[in-house]
Amino acid sequence: MRDIAFIFFLAAVVCVTSGMGCGIQMAISEDHLLAPAHAHLNLVGWTTLALFGLYYRLTPAAAQGILPRVHAGLAILGVAFMTPGIAMVIVGGSPALASAGAILTLASMLLFLVTVARYGLGAAA
Ligand code: HEM
Repeated sequence: MRDIAFIFFLAAVVCVTSGMGCGIQMAISEDHLLAPAHAHLNLVGWTTLALFGLYYRLTPAAAQGILPRVHAGLAILGVAFMTPGIAMVIVGGSPALASAGAILTLASMLLFLVTVARYGLGAAA
């Protein structure tokens, strides 16, 4: 099985690729209504997930065991729920999906806070 850094990085690249597609679609159509969904897909998806991946590659002790996998599940599901959820809210739909995504995303960051406090940063931490 691929390591956790790879899983985070692959998810990040999927996010930025689709985020760019969404950005190009907005630019061509001159309809920027969904810009907040695009922004969250790129910033929470690409930037945050990629930083998690880099962290786990830099800090091998933190990449062992079940916790980083739980972290990846929370973080990736969070983006997967939050981004379409924001788009739904913008077009007048229910905020439930965006809220679920936001809670999962916050939970993933709390778990990361515990991980960083426990393992520090880098191989020698
Ligand atoms: C092919 C690449 C991209 C295209 C064509 C694109 C296009 C756009 C467009 C058309 C908007 C709406 C602008 C407005 O309404 O003022 C926008 C907003 C935004 N984009 Fe992108 N984008 C791209 C990549 C990215 C990336 C990689 C990021 C972040 C890592 C990003 C972050 C943002 C943010 C934060 C906003 C919101 C700006 C605001 O509301 O003031 N975009 N983008």
